[in-house]
Amino acid sequence: MPEIFRYALEPDDDQMHAMGLAALSLVEGYVRDLPQRPAFDLDGALDLAARLREPAPEHGTPWPDLLRTVAAAAAAGAASAGPGYLAYVPGGGLYAAALADLLAAALNKYVSVWNLAPACAQIEATAIRWLCDLFGYPPRARGILTSGGSLANFSAIVTARTALLGERFLDGILYVTDQTHASSAKAALLAGFPRANVRTVPTLADLAMDPRALARMIEDDRAAGLRPFLVIGSAGTTNTGIVDPLTVLADLARVEGLWFHVDAAYGGPFQLTERGRDLLRGIERADSITLDPHKAMFLPYGTGALLVRDGPLLRQAHHFDAHYLQDLGAEEEIPNFTEYSPELTRDFRGLRLWLPVKLHGLEAFRQALDEKLDLARLAHAELVESGFDVPWRPQLTTVAFRWIPEDGDADAFNARLLRHVNAGGRVLLSSTMIGGAYMLRLCVVSHRTHRDRVEEAVAAIRVALHDCLDGVTRPS
Ligand SMILES: Cc1ncc(COP(=O)(O)O)c(C=O)c1O
Repeated sequence: MPEIFRYALEPDDDQMHAMGLAALSLVEGYVRDLPQRPAFDLDGALDLAARLREPAPEHGTPWPDLLRTVAAAAAAGAASAGPGYLAYVPGGGLYAAALADLLAAALNKYVSVWNLAPACAQIEATAIRWLCDLFGYPPRARGILTSGGSLANFSAIVTARTALLGERFLDGILYVTDQTHASSAKAALLAGFPRANVRTVPTLADLAMDPRALARMIEDDRAAGLRPFLVIGSAGTTNTGIVDPLTVLADLARVEGLWFHVDAAYGGPFQLTERGRDLLRGIERADSITLDPHKAMFLPYGTGALLVRDGPLLRQAHHFDAHYLQDLGAEEEIPNFTEYSPELTRDFRGLRLWLPVKLHGLEAFRQALDEKLDLARLAHAELVESGFDVPWRPQLTTVAFRWIPEDGDADAFNARLLRHVNAGGRVLLSSTMIGGAYMLRLCVVSHRTHRDRVEEAVAAIRVALHDCLDGVTRPS
């Protein structure tokens, strides 16, 4: 029987307490068991998914039963909060940030305009200012917290388009490489550009954008009567973590009058470290920067950021007057975030960033990121030592590698190798194609991944290699 509430949707104090404690105990158990959980587990997951396809219930279900369902659902698939998750670009999900989400949702403050919750909006503005400070952005800079890097890249492209092309923009050309995250090209399409306007600039042997090729392409496009307007540099590509030559691109963009956007969704937070600052030199000259606190700041999914050096340009691209908002205060010291963003009503994301930074301090993040840089170097050295083809020394925390078999199809061999590694259950790696070759990726970002797990990953890769070389089969 469901609990009887006085008003069904308003649990009383005792009920709130009991529900909260039960949810918290689920979280504690889940997090405590993360190191032992399989990195990937599909056992029974599809059956559970099938059972979850059901009509909306007319009557309620007891809270403990629902939590059991949530726990079972969370156990299925990738343990993406855990130390073995080395696929894609992991994040982890800080506990303090999870509590921030609970607070934000329960307090349900409206931060998109400042005067409905001035101090809460200021918390978000302060957190964004911290990000601007990281890159030495001037006081005029503005930023928004987005749901992720994809939406941040979208708003960056719309801002550049509005600033440099005006409303008739179909002759506007933007430049990426084949290593740029697909969200940029997708954002360009969503922003109204034809596919052909997204130019792929060749890369050099290190997979970074070739600035000379870019200069030639800009010249050719101008000669053809088109309007080059935007170059997107990557500060940490998803495939290998390579950083484009940001200073050279900043120079070129200035000379050519182009907007310079840096997609630092992955690499941006490494700016906190000395090695990161060396690597990302030039990013401070970007017109706009995407960075994802839900990657290398370890926040739960749902936190990206866009920073724009000349803040009013971000506003110019996103502001639209509406009569029903006339009672709200014009922006003063605290921004009206909706005027800088495609969104109006949304969650209080800033708390998710502000609270962990205040709780732990930046030094804790710096140390964690330095540790991840060291771990990637360790994995690189071990894989080279084992005879793998590891063409790019990791600049950030991603190692792309493969085995070159003496005969047979190398791509098929490496796909089998990946299946063997992942079937071991201690780590989850992913794969990609680089220059037409199938490569495995090991990406260390989660705050919960430490040396022991990276050593286990390398050991698992070695065992899997021997199995594959010996023709041992594993479930696909
Ligand atoms: C370099 C880069 N840019 C953009 C994105 C897209 O970010 P999100 O998945 O948060 O939308 C990613 C995601 O991995 C990325 O690695």
